[in-house]
Amino acid sequence: MLKVGIIGLGFIGKMHLATFRKAGLGEVVAVADRVPGNLSGDADGGGNIAVDSELASLDGVKLYSNGDALLAESDADVVLIALPTYLHKEFTIKALEADKHVICEKPMAVNAAEGEAMVAAAEKADRLFFVAHCIRFWPAYVKAQELIGEGTYGKVRRAHFSRVSPKPSWSWEGWLLDEAKSGGCLLDLHIHDVDYVNDVFGPPATIAARGIRTGAEGVGDVMVSYEYDNGTLVTIEGSWEQHATFPFRMAFRMTLDKASLEFDSGIDMNLRIHTADGETITPEISSEDGYTQEHRYFFECIESGRKPTRVTPPSSLESLALIERELQSIG
Ligand SMILES: NC(=O)c1ccc[n+]([C@@H]2O[C@H](COP(=O)([O-])OP(=O)(O)OC[C@H]3O[C@@H](n4cnc5c(N)ncnc54)[C@H](O)[C@@H]3O)[C@@H](O)[C@H]2O)c1
Repeated sequence: MLKVGIIGLGFIGKMHLATFRKAGLGEVVAVADRVPGNLSGDADGGGNIAVDSELASLDGVKLYSNGDALLAESDADVVLIALPTYLHKEFTIKALEADKHVICEKPMAVNAAEGEAMVAAAEKADRLFFVAHCIRFWPAYVKAQELIGEGTYGKVRRAHFSRVSPKPSWSWEGWLLDEAKSGGCLLDLHIHDVDYVNDVFGPPATIAARGIRTGAEGVGDVMVSYEYDNGTLVTIEGSWEQHATFPFRMAFRMTLDKASLEFDSGIDMNLRIHTADGETITPEISSEDGYTQEHRYFFECIESGRKPTRVTPPSSLESLALIERELQSIG
């Protein structure tokens, strides 16, 4: 079984710990975090996904007060980097140089220049590197992509993606609310849909974005349209400007020649196909969430010694470049 080290045991680090345990994927042998309380086995990471307390125990796990010590001392085969985004480049490169396979949380980095350095380091390393763009593994999104690829319902004429939440309140030293450290809502939240859209439709011919800036936090609310040479029009909205009790919600609607595809986490996690013949079909999709499936996929790549073909490092870099095009359009 692959040995796993987690660097950064805040909100999403705890969720990854629980996910590895729940699926029985890998053995978490070491964790590192700067906050002593995060090394106590407490499940509460403060974010918008609850973690089962039984899966958060750190009994028998080596504890480190920073990522450098874990890299120097741990015998982990794979390191999961769940650090603030501005530390992704530094720790990804260090981990590859320490001969670890690396899963780095999304976004890959705070800008494309840093992402390029990570791609170059991964090309030199004889270990594998994977950015955890979980939406590429989220069952309803995966099924929609399959249906588009099969062409059964024709071409996508129009698609709309939405991801909205209250402002994140939990982050270590408030890093999420500092655009220089997190990239704001665009890089933190909205990039999930940008990355998926780029994977399904490719880079758009034109981008037109409008957004609302809130000081040092950066753009907190964005609406963007991507136009493609084949006539497909995609719009994507992202916002973390909702008030405190508004639930996190992700959704999409895609209009194809012969069906509309619908997903809304505010309803349930199913995909619905509304066909031109007047039927509504709820296709079977995986019951495993995207986090488990991304772990499973990357572990299979490591165990079979093949580079990931889903979420390649260059494709993660493309997502950063698209966000930079959006920022230029917003001005
Ligand atoms: N895929 C998703 O759905 C998803 C969801 C949330 C966050 N994220 C991403 O995960 C990353 C982390 O976000 P978060 O919300 O968990 O942040 P967070 O602030 O809750 O956690 C970050 C943790 O890193 C620790 N840390 C800082 N420097 C360290 C060091 N040198 N060594 C060891 N630990 C150190 C901090 O103590 C903190 O606990 C971000 O890049 C974010 O964009 C992804």
